[in-house]
Amino acid sequence: MAFHSKYVCQQCGYESTGWMGKCPECGEWNTLVETVVSTSSKSQSSRSKQTSNPKSQIQKLSDIKQTATERISTKISELDRVLGGGLVPGQVVLIAGEPGIGKSTLLTQLASQLSVIGSQLSESSSSVSQLTGKPRTGKLEAENGNLKTDNGSVLYVCGEESASQVKVRADRLGIGTLKNKNVSIDLLEETDVDLVVETIELQDSLSAIIVDSIQTMTTGDLSGMAGSVGQVRECANRLLHTAKAKNIPLFLVGHVTKEGTVAGPAVLAHIVDTVLWFEGDKTLTTRILRAVKNRFGPTDEVGVFDMQDRGLMPVTDLEKAFLEESKKSIAGSLVTSVMQGTRPILVEIQALVVPTKLAIPRRVAQGIDSRRLELLLAVLTRRCGLPMYDQDVFVNVAGGLKVTEPASDLAICLAVVSAFYDKPINGKVIAVGEVGLLGEIREVVAQEKRLKEAKRLGFTSPISSKEIKFVNQAIKSLFR
Ligand code: TYD
Ligand code: MG
Repeated sequence: MAFHSKYVCQQCGYESTGWMGKCPECGEWNTLVETVVSTSSKSQSSRSKQTSNPKSQIQKLSDIKQTATERISTKISELDRVLGGGLVPGQVVLIAGEPGIGKSTLLTQLASQLSVIGSQLSESSSSVSQLTGKPRTGKLEAENGNLKTDNGSVLYVCGEESASQVKVRADRLGIGTLKNKNVSIDLLEETDVDLVVETIELQDSLSAIIVDSIQTMTTGDLSGMAGSVGQVRECANRLLHTAKAKNIPLFLVGHVTKEGTVAGPAVLAHIVDTVLWFEGDKTLTTRILRAVKNRFGPTDEVGVFDMQDRGLMPVTDLEKAFLEESKKSIAGSLVTSVMQGTRPILVEIQALVVPTKLAIPRRVAQGIDSRRLELLLAVLTRRCGLPMYDQDVFVNVAGGLKVTEPASDLAICLAVVSAFYDKPINGKVIAVGEVGLLGEIREVVAQEKRLKEAKRLGFTSPISSKEIKFVNQAIKSLFR
């Protein structure tokens, strides 16, 4: 098979043999991406034969038998939840996140779990009971009469770190010690994707493949640097074809920078089955795993982990995970409830208001959209008669969670007012509601569920559209 490469404009499809900053056809900048072209058309068709049906046939929709999706539990409860109950054979998952957030840690833990399952199964296929420690795994057993028994080790391709660095991490996580002789993780220090593919093809029993990270992989068929759009896309494609053909779950690690995305997650999102974002405040220990795309499950679930010194621990008593105790009598703090998937979580909104020394006062928002804060301050000024125009306002969501729902509007407003008056709000109060431009309080999705859950946790004085219709009334009732 012979390959050569050309540069294709992602905007208009213009082709060129060399790289250009600006596309001469459509005038867009930075849109030319190096792409592999196979010169022999024969090889192309033989490749597609391998992966798809040899004959294209029309099938009746009614004739297609529905097979229960076989799910492989990862034995990490929060990861299973985000995946929609477990892995599907051949599933390709992209785990994206900032450097240092814990992607390699999560995948090393996953590798140990998957290879334990594999080796236990291959030792004695009848020992399913070993797997049924958790109800979720029990479900796996029930759903899936023919459990895969040929699971083998997990292949961990480390392009980023050396094998010994991975070993240090594994030791820290307590994996690979004598006690865990069931764990079988194969490390491959390689950045040439074609060699990785070759290695995978030679293995006959792999339970999963982990590539850490996709930005370090390159193919000799392209001249671009590792991490360039062309390289990332082509390498991911080659790995994906191999994994799909062999029906092995594949995990790709993709780095994201603070500024947004360097070639990586954005480029890959449409070719992989599942995209998981791993996020959190690096100075804190809580980490959130969020499905933003999932062909095999819902995308509204999140998994919450706590980064401890021996790895990531699933957080199951989520309700209060983002609440810090005490400090109840300090002005500027109020609890609200945000939905994370189907689960309501209580979070504390903190606000600080100080007279400004600048012509244009500062508005600093952490964990909420700063434009939303501007809007709410305008509502407070105009509808509630509070002079916010000469105050610097800082708002923060405690615990590093990002709140995107308008349901937190009311709590933000009231926290700001509390800080402005320097009057604390009773610790039993919880505010849930969207605030409109007229200063009205609107009902939010799952309001009842949120308030019920909050009540259970001791927040017995709710403020929502049910109790009060306008923000200024709420302010009066709290700070009279
Ligand atoms: P890592 O998984 O290497 O991040 P990524 O692959 O996303 O770049 O983890 C980075 C941080 O996690 C590092 O600062 C150390 C910390 N850490 C722990 O707190 N506990 C642990 O058990 C491990 C392995 C790492
Ligand atoms: Mg890493």
